[in-house]
Amino acid sequence: MTSPTDPNRVPDIDDWNRLLEGKVAVVTGGGADGIGGAVCELFAAHGATVEFAEIDPARAQATVDAISRAGGTATSHVLDVSTEDGVAALKSTVLERHGGIDVLVNNVGDYRPLVRFHESGPESWESMYRVNLWHVYAVTQAFLNSMIERGGGSVVSIHSVEGLRGFPGEPVYASMKAAVSHFSTCLAAGYGRQGIRANGIGVDLTQSRQVDYVSGYEEHEHLWEAWSPAGRLGWPMDQARVALFLASDMSAYVTGHNIPVDGGTKAGGGWFYSPEAGRFLNRPKTL
Ligand SMILES: NC(=O)c1ccc[n+]([C@@H]2O[C@H](COP(=O)([O-])OP(=O)(O)OC[C@H]3O[C@@H](n4cnc5c(N)ncnc54)[C@H](O)[C@@H]3O)[C@@H](O)[C@H]2O)c1
Repeated sequence: MTSPTDPNRVPDIDDWNRLLEGKVAVVTGGGADGIGGAVCELFAAHGATVEFAEIDPARAQATVDAISRAGGTATSHVLDVSTEDGVAALKSTVLERHGGIDVLVNNVGDYRPLVRFHESGPESWESMYRVNLWHVYAVTQAFLNSMIERGGGSVVSIHSVEGLRGFPGEPVYASMKAAVSHFSTCLAAGYGRQGIRANGIGVDLTQSRQVDYVSGYEEHEHLWEAWSPAGRLGWPMDQARVALFLASDMSAYVTGHNIPVDGGTKAGGGWFYSPEAGRFLNRPKTL
């Protein structure tokens, strides 16, 4: 290892169009029409060999097809990452095939079924924990040693802007997301010297099969100005581009952070632009 003050420690980027050339990337929840699917497609387009876990066989196949049509390399593993057997199967197949990995994107998560806290109980807490947090520990633990052995890697965990601000709707889901965010921060602090970077993405307002922001809102498109400082809906590719930045050497000196990719909703929280009034209101009388 060269001196810590050697300027050559900034990694070279040989091809800015192939930011993950030669890297092995594992993505959870890589099915089509979601954030994970867009991450798989963008990573493959940037030269990564993508190994993704997905519970829904049809969505898995659609991602594989899209990537092979574009000339990339991806393999789906149809399994449930919220179970020990699922994680063990993913780990053994990927490590047998590649020996180790360079990038992990923890993407699986779900707010459904949304149970109000005063009506909730151990069963709903357990299911929120399994699908939003447990697998983040399990899958990261499954691959961390192999990343360290390879000299380092990047762990990107997709959570929610609701883990970075108060979410009145469902505190159990939001606190799981907050835990994913803090897990990234702690992982970065603990394993940075072994070459591991860990960062998170706090998602909001992104069209996917899980969260449909379009259907039923066709008559209210003009209100996007009120709903988001960016003034538009987000798409899985908006998230995937930030994941690519965090996965690649573009962010070689970024670790332990959580980036809201939310069109500015966290920044603008509490204030609503009223197209009708032509100004910001914190107590809108109508929406
Ligand atoms: N879309 C948004 O606006 C939004 C907002 C906040 C947070 N998020 C977070 O972003 C992440 C991606 O969500 P999305 O909106 O793309 O949803 P999505 O439901 O479209 O995508 C999730 C994918 O993971 C798969 N999956 C679910 N459970 C699985 C399991 N146990 N094992 C393997 N695969 C599984 C699903 O089949 C699907 O393909 C989630 O963590 C979600 O909580 C999204």
